[in-house]
Amino acid sequence: MFSKVYSGTVLGIDSRRITVEADISDGLPVFDLVGYLGSEVREARERVRISLKNSGYRLPAKRITINLSPADMRKEGTAFDLPIAISVLAALGLLLEESLKDTLFIGELSLNGEVKKVNGVLPIVYMAYEQGFKRCIVPSCNVREGAVVKGIEVYGVDSLTQVAEFLSGNLHLAPCCLQAEDLKPSREDTQIDFSDIVGQELAKRAIEIAACGMHNILLIGPPGSGKTMLARRIPSILPELSFEESLEISKIYSVSGLLDNNQSLILNRPFRSPHHTITTTALTGGGRFPMPGEISLAHMGVLFLDEFPEFNRKTIEILRQPLEENEITITRLNGTFRYPANLMLCTAMNPCNCGYYPDRNKCHCSLSQVRNYLGKISRPLLDRIDISIEVPQSDYKDLNKKGGRETSAAIRERVMKGRLAQTERYKKDRIHFNSQLTTRMLQEYCALGKKEEKLMEEAYARLNLSARTYHRVLKVARTIADLDGSESIQEKHLSEAICYRSMDKKYWD
Ligand SMILES: Nc1ncnc2c1ncn2[C@@H]1O[C@H](COP(=O)(O)OP(=O)(O)O)[C@@H](O)[C@H]1O
Ligand SMILES: [Mg+2]
Ligand SMILES: [Zn+2]
Repeated sequence: MFSKVYSGTVLGIDSRRITVEADISDGLPVFDLVGYLGSEVREARERVRISLKNSGYRLPAKRITINLSPADMRKEGTAFDLPIAISVLAALGLLLEESLKDTLFIGELSLNGEVKKVNGVLPIVYMAYEQGFKRCIVPSCNVREGAVVKGIEVYGVDSLTQVAEFLSGNLHLAPCCLQAEDLKPSREDTQIDFSDIVGQELAKRAIEIAACGMHNILLIGPPGSGKTMLARRIPSILPELSFEESLEISKIYSVSGLLDNNQSLILNRPFRSPHHTITTTALTGGGRFPMPGEISLAHMGVLFLDEFPEFNRKTIEILRQPLEENEITITRLNGTFRYPANLMLCTAMNPCNCGYYPDRNKCHCSLSQVRNYLGKISRPLLDRIDISIEVPQSDYKDLNKKGGRETSAAIRERVMKGRLAQTERYKKDRIHFNSQLTTRMLQEYCALGKKEEKLMEEAYARLNLSARTYHRVLKVARTIADLDGSESIQEKHLSEAICYRSMDKKYWD
């Protein structure tokens, strides 16, 4: 007999439908699996056979052939175990064809017939919904991520027998139904707040601007001055995620297997802080079985690279391209796909090995040592940072000052106002933030008056700007004007933006 069961697989952060066909015919007893399979899928043969046996099903001494299609696509992973097992049961006549209609299956099987967690449930369920399936059967610990998709029933299951009983109508299961509070941010991150930070008003201001326009920022200063502390608080001043944003981020986490059991969506802005020993692949994504990297896990949030010069130089140089393009493209046999990476980069560093340059009372590094240390950050990379700010050691008397400090919520208000101005302005442009302005758009949205032109001309010469850094200054000035509620970029906005560019000269020239 013959049967046909549907499943799905992940491609990038999207998904494609896979058809599993089983045929049972007379002949030498074999259990064959074909259809351009990766090694994990080939091993499904053993897992499914033993899992069926241990679930109480007896395989007849016949020729069983399973085919996974489309044939042009290499199939990877363990999520086809369950649909393969179901297709065998159906071909044996143990399940009615009717019960498989409009249903998609995913799940790994253990040898004793348990259904185990797999990656990518959210994008696969989403694809199923788009293709008109009525229900999905998924591992129970993945059910909540699938249930986020409206308009399709998602059932969580624990074992192969449970699925068979359900399909035969002997067992009632209810589709997973999420409550409204499951989709609200937990705000667990509210425990850390900008009001924890004493002083550092200039750094806070720079961070507010960076958060508003999604600009890349560099914090430079001695150890213990609060750089890490500042960076960790950035998500607390970013606007809450919309449902669509949550969904897009959650797809990335689903594919990476980083959604916790029973977690449905990523509801808070990501803050990723990889260690400086990270490999290039782990940072940017890719690999033999492609996975999103840290830059994609930070999508719509913050990527924090602490101790920036300690990172492998090649690794951070590779960041340049995705930083410009807001995504990373990976080419594989199955085609080319992209992982989104639209993030705010925050980097932090000490100015030298000891950390205290240019304070000559404390720093005894030679100038060439300092130059060496700073030189780990290349010019082209530095050019891609919009805002650099010094974070000096706090004064003793400031540290004991109490009260009067602004909360993250108050700063977030202003950030959101500035964001609104950008959303309005870029309605037709398919960009969201000032940091994404193209050269053509700069001419339209960042036109300067006479006085401002002159200021820019002077800064261009004095700071030795390049065309790229010149454009970046304009983008930052645009954000400062937006925070100020100003239609045009004025002198004061521009001169503040220029200040954030002057660290290049102070440290790197
Ligand atoms: N401005 C500040 N306000 C309050 N605490 C601070 C401040 N600066 C530093 N600290 C304290 O010093 C510790 C070290 O700060 P950290 O952010 O790790 O410094 P850095 O990353 O610059 O080396 C923090 O955990 C905090 O307790
Ligand atoms: Mg630190
Ligand atoms: Zn030093």
